[in-house]
Amino acid sequence: MSSILSFARAKREQRPLVMVTAYDAVTARTLHEAGVDALLVGDSAAMVVHGFPSTVHATLEMMRLHTAAVRRGAPEALVVADMPFLSVRRGADAALDAAGELMQAGATAVKIEGVAGHEEAISRLIGSGIPVMGHLGLTPQSVHQLGGNRIQGRSPAAAAQLRADAETLEKLGAFALVLECVPAALAATVTRERSIATIGIGAGRETDGQVLVVTDMLGLDPTFCPSFARRYVDGHRANLRAMRSFVRDVRARRFPARKEVPA
Ligand code: KIV
Repeated sequence: MSSILSFARAKREQRPLVMVTAYDAVTARTLHEAGVDALLVGDSAAMVVHGFPSTVHATLEMMRLHTAAVRRGAPEALVVADMPFLSVRRGADAALDAAGELMQAGATAVKIEGVAGHEEAISRLIGSGIPVMGHLGLTPQSVHQLGGNRIQGRSPAAAAQLRADAETLEKLGAFALVLECVPAALAATVTRERSIATIGIGAGRETDGQVLVVTDMLGLDPTFCPSFARRYVDGHRANLRAMRSFVRDVRARRFPARKEVPA
């Protein structure tokens, strides 16, 4: 079973870390087979699986079910589960309860967006044996407060705040830190300054690792591909071709064929 210690080791050895989101058992099994370092049960599930407009709609029950499915698909993987909207904001006791449910569903660690106001909760979780991954920069649960999904940390004051937040996370004992949509130079500075591993998404080339949303990587949604993501396959086109073939085959009575009929 992979552990969070592998993150510290990878940073020391300058071996780039790979994390990809997963929401279901089959995808989790395939990503683990591909050799990723960690599976992230992102609250992006609310958008890419459930069709909501933002991650604000992720609930604890939604995250618990996806976490359990991912764990069943990849029993040996390091699984990080997102703490959903407001689950940390309600105080350390509520955060502990929510994180406990995600751990019992199969998570190895939880990810928490932001740090201001979360210090006590983060410290309680870590003190209770629950590894915490931080998430700074664009924190999508605050999309309405941020005025949209835009790059963060551009001004000197915002950059200084992000660096201070990263330091706070390290001092609290977080084992890693996602940096989302921040200028590459700022992500590189944080990566150099901090001893915890940084995992970038839209944060340039100099973080300790990279994370992508699996549906972006597989090109499953033709209407959405952020500029920082790379499509490794046109999954939408491949899926559509297969689906149309099935429709044609059934209508033409070519499916099932003789060998597909039980004796
Ligand atoms: O929920 C998610 O997919 C994430 C990644 C963008 C890092 O948090």
